[in-house]
Amino acid sequence: MLITLKKILAKANKENYAVGAFNINNMEICQAVMNAAVSQKSPIILQTSQGALEYAGKDYLKALAETAADQKVPVCLHVDHGRDLDLIKACIKKGWTGIMYDGSHLPFEQNVKNTKKVVGWASKKGIGVEGELGTIGGAEEKIVSRQIIYTDPDAAVEFVDKTGVDALAIAIGTSHGAYKFSGSGRLDIHLLKTIKQKLNMPLVLHGASGVPSWLVTLAARYGAHLGKPEGVPDDQVALAVKNGINKVNTDTDLRLAFDAAVRKFVAEKPEDFDPRHILAPARELMQQVVEHRIQLFGSSGKA
Ligand code: G3H
Ligand code: 13P
Ligand code: ZN
Repeated sequence: MLITLKKILAKANKENYAVGAFNINNMEICQAVMNAAVSQKSPIILQTSQGALEYAGKDYLKALAETAADQKVPVCLHVDHGRDLDLIKACIKKGWTGIMYDGSHLPFEQNVKNTKKVVGWASKKGIGVEGELGTIGGAEEKIVSRQIIYTDPDAAVEFVDKTGVDALAIAIGTSHGAYKFSGSGRLDIHLLKTIKQKLNMPLVLHGASGVPSWLVTLAARYGAHLGKPEGVPDDQVALAVKNGINKVNTDTDLRLAFDAAVRKFVAEKPEDFDPRHILAPARELMQQVVEHRIQLFGSSGKA
């Protein structure tokens, strides 16, 4: 059975580790994440962005997560960066067990109003809601925001009081995508500590991919043109978890692993066009990446 965001994060907050939240868009990504969670005996969050819901469809993604939930580790199925209220309502109805309402682009009061609405719907089913305050930079298919606005601690307290969210995504210097920093790759850990002290509740780090250089090199060796990508260094992620982050989002690292493995296979075996042969190495490489991140988050053995 799928478990709720509320429950999976309450335990992480109590025991001071983070649950990895990985974006799934198809079966191989879902299997890679689940194989890693099972091998590490770790709780896990499978999250679906609006883009994923559009690409794969709610029913297929729900079926994948239901199958994943039979595998002996706690699994939460979560909407990532939900902005469309009708879509959120539909996912709650279909059985998603966590919702992120992302009103970070709206004025404070409008963000409060919409988030509160979602908390009302979610509470009828007992599932959890993640809100966002501050702006995490970067650009994905459905999220465009170039500027990082760090979360204000007092505004965070007011936001949580007014909305009743179970978890809060905060901006402490990360951005989405593969190009995160123009200067040093350091997070504002002092700000994180201040927010945690005031709220003492599950906090979420978005845009947390490590963009490992070995993966970038591998993809580039087989033809990828990635420029100079830069991720959040592992020591910064570990420090963030130590100081109160309980959910860490990762998508870019999965994309890089998928891309590198597929490129390598088709370059080395140009005569092989069996999709299973092409996708199996991608699934394996993504699993390896997820296993490393689970260890970094301290959730191994917490299932
Ligand atoms: O933070 C967002 C995730 O990386 C999802 O990206 O909207 O392109 O699916 P997406
Ligand atoms: P990355 O782009 O760093 O993987 O962040 C993903 C994310 O925050 C999904 O919500
Ligand atoms: Zn995000």
